[in-house]
Amino acid sequence: MGMDGLSNTASVLLEKLRSYHADTFSHSLRVSWLFRHLLRETSCFPGLEKPLFLGALLHDIGKLDIPTSILDKKDPLTDDEWRLIKTHPLKSYLYLKEAIPIRECLDIALYHHERWDGNGYARIRRDLLPDYAFLFSIVDAFDAMTSKRAYNDVLTVRQALEEIRKNSGTQFSPAAVEIFCRLSEAELAAIMADIFTDGARLLEDIRHYLSSHVFAS
Ligand SMILES: [Fe+2]
Repeated sequence: MGMDGLSNTASVLLEKLRSYHADTFSHSLRVSWLFRHLLRETSCFPGLEKPLFLGALLHDIGKLDIPTSILDKKDPLTDDEWRLIKTHPLKSYLYLKEAIPIRECLDIALYHHERWDGNGYARIRRDLLPDYAFLFSIVDAFDAMTSKRAYNDVLTVRQALEEIRKNSGTQFSPAAVEIFCRLSEAELAAIMADIFTDGARLLEDIRHYLSSHVFAS
């Protein structure tokens, strides 16, 4: 598959997610843009921005296979529903394995719910996980905490940062927390406000990035 083919595949999958579940779609736009910003600001993982961005953009694509009645459920999930939810990183990986076979992209999808203490969805030991997956899991959690979803109360940026620091060494990698916290509260608030203000523009920016930068190096 050529370079353009990969970007097109990403766009097609993204459109599917958009029509299937709007909340997951907009969450995916926000985390990919915030992750990209973080990578640029901190100069972490140089040379990997493009595949990591794609992984972030499509990390939840496996939710296409989870009924929306479960994705939107406000009551506590049953054990069976939890089991199903916990399959979505693997499902994302399986979608992307054929579509975008780039290691870092696949890693983000497969490992985004793993934890530093080994108690994540697949309970994978941290020494087997790439550092960028730990960094993305913070970005993912940060957005989940600061935006309204079916099952949570919204935290302020400050509260979310406190929560992230509190969970350093348990849920989150201490090194990744240190990197994420190089973005100041004010900077994060500004980025999130910008991202939230105009969803249509964010999608335009992402489409432009996909078509002009992602694989055209
Ligand atoms: Fe997820």
